[in-house]
Amino acid sequence: MAILICGGAGYIGSHTIRLLVDAGEDVIVADNLSTGHKTAINPAVKFYNCDIRDKVALQKIFAENKIEAVFHFAAFIEAGESVVLPLKYFSNNVVGMEILLEAMVDAGVDKIIFSSSAAVYGEPEKIPVGELDATVPVNPYGDSKLIMEMMMRRVSAAHGVRFVSLRYFNACGAIEDATIGEDHHPESHLIPLILQVPLGKREHITIFGDDYPTPDGTCIRDYIHVMDLAAAHQNALNYLRDGGESDFFNLGSGQGFSVKEIISTAEKVTAQKIKTVLGARRAGDPARLIASSDKARKILNWQPRFDDIEKIISTAWNWHRTHPNGFND
Ligand code: UFG
Repeated sequence: MAILICGGAGYIGSHTIRLLVDAGEDVIVADNLSTGHKTAINPAVKFYNCDIRDKVALQKIFAENKIEAVFHFAAFIEAGESVVLPLKYFSNNVVGMEILLEAMVDAGVDKIIFSSSAAVYGEPEKIPVGELDATVPVNPYGDSKLIMEMMMRRVSAAHGVRFVSLRYFNACGAIEDATIGEDHHPESHLIPLILQVPLGKREHITIFGDDYPTPDGTCIRDYIHVMDLAAAHQNALNYLRDGGESDFFNLGSGQGFSVKEIISTAEKVTAQKIKTVLGARRAGDPARLIASSDKARKILNWQPRFDDIEKIISTAWNWHRTHPNGFND
């Protein structure tokens, strides 16, 4: 039976596919290529150019293939954009999830692994953030992910579709052979933006505020390598195959790094001085966001391989320096 990867042309989806294919899984991709890249899709897999809001197209995929489980990566992810265009997020993310679940229930597909986000917590009450902490998103993107989780929970109870919801903290890095990596348009994430400076594609990196209540005044985040996220998906699939119950898991390294620490590590990795400019705070940025991932370690048997931020950034650098224009599609 096959695994259907919705959003398999995107950053985390394409890395997860690499692990699944290497493990001998039969993989099928559905992606509308609105933010993903055709050339990021593993040539070993069957590809449907399909929007998950198109129920007829989904029904066709389920009819033509024996699907065991769905991995759902097909969501918009820009928190800032979601404030300006909330309906774009409610349509693709929330309506997309509704139609996907409908098609799954109709086809009798009973396992889903979902890309959730630390954004469901909003401004955390305490650090590290645990799965039972309050979920109070501060933007429509976070709302959409929380609503999608609620939908899975209710559908699970009513129709027996079991789910694993993986709440990623700051995904970063690239596969070690640097054949795929991060390529967003426009790019808004810290590490790829920093690396555009040594690539000569950007004059400087703007630090969004240095007056936060942190040791150096800049925001602290929990950076987790994309291949460690990919491995968590594989473990989650095996957990559901072994009869595991529906559940939510944080995925982070448990370590926090400030914006300034990330910049100085990038200087070390690239052996270049990176020009910085101090800017205003970005709306909605919590000062510190660090995950407790004890639950994933215990229940999913997940052990992140990348625990060194220099190594993590060097995998990102290997991708960007060998693909300065990303995927070219
Ligand atoms: N930052 C800068 N300058 C930049 C870009 C970012 O200083 O040019 C700072 C941000 O203010 C933040 C940190 O770098 O403090 C990380 O910013 P990112 O945009 O890379 O990541 P976020 O922490 O904002 O967002 C990540 C995911 C989102 C998810 C969120 C959950 O990318 O999808 O975590 O809180 F919603």
